[in-house]
Amino acid sequence: MAKKIIITIDGWSSCGKSTLAKQLARELGLVYVDSGAMYRAITLYFLRNHVDWTSQGEVVKALSEIHLDFHYNATTLTSEIYLNEENVEYVIRDLVIAEKVSDVAAIREVREFAVAQQQKMGNKKGIVMDGRDIGTVVFPDAELKIFMTADNAVRVERRFRELYEKNPNITIEEVKNNLEMRDYIDSHREVSPLRKADDAIVLDNTHLTEDQQLQKALNWAKERSR
Ligand code: C5P
Repeated sequence: MAKKIIITIDGWSSCGKSTLAKQLARELGLVYVDSGAMYRAITLYFLRNHVDWTSQGEVVKALSEIHLDFHYNATTLTSEIYLNEENVEYVIRDLVIAEKVSDVAAIREVREFAVAQQQKMGNKKGIVMDGRDIGTVVFPDAELKIFMTADNAVRVERRFRELYEKNPNITIEEVKNNLEMRDYIDSHREVSPLRKADDAIVLDNTHLTEDQQLQKALNWAKERSR
């Protein structure tokens, strides 16, 4: 029987990390965890409750009031995030959250809170998790680490199409600025900045179809499950 492995997928914003992670989870019978959803849900809580995240005391208190959970949705065939028992999977995708999430994710206490839960989810292996620091900090011993990248223009176009479906007032400029800002903050922060783990395989999908990238990743996963 193939052994249960941990697959980490890190990379720049809107490279298609979650698309690949969900497909790998389905093909290989792994649990998929979207770590970015956790930072987005925390940001949603902070915004709703007017938490001043420059105050360490307020951050610590707010985190003690937050309970995050993932539940599998049999209709969408993927797991969805719950914030204090409320399904927030869709609200957290809004640009209002995207504008603030990288500032919140740069806070040390927030990262410690999220990373501890992520590591617990992986303690039985059999997991694929995407994010920014999964191969470097959360699961440094993962069997397969993928670092995804794609040309900027392609990433902006992909994210624009996704957000435009929900909000036709959105402009390509807004989306481009948001991606650039998040990538900058994510890769320059002091605590667990976005970077490629030394043993990660780079997957540039600028010129790949979803199926081509899936086949590549499946081959790598199979080699490492033996
Ligand atoms: O993956 P997604 O774009 O939904 O992540 C939203 C934000 O959460 C990222 O821009 C980043 O600031 C933060 N994040 C992080 N570490 C992770 C996953 C996400 O800092 N492992």
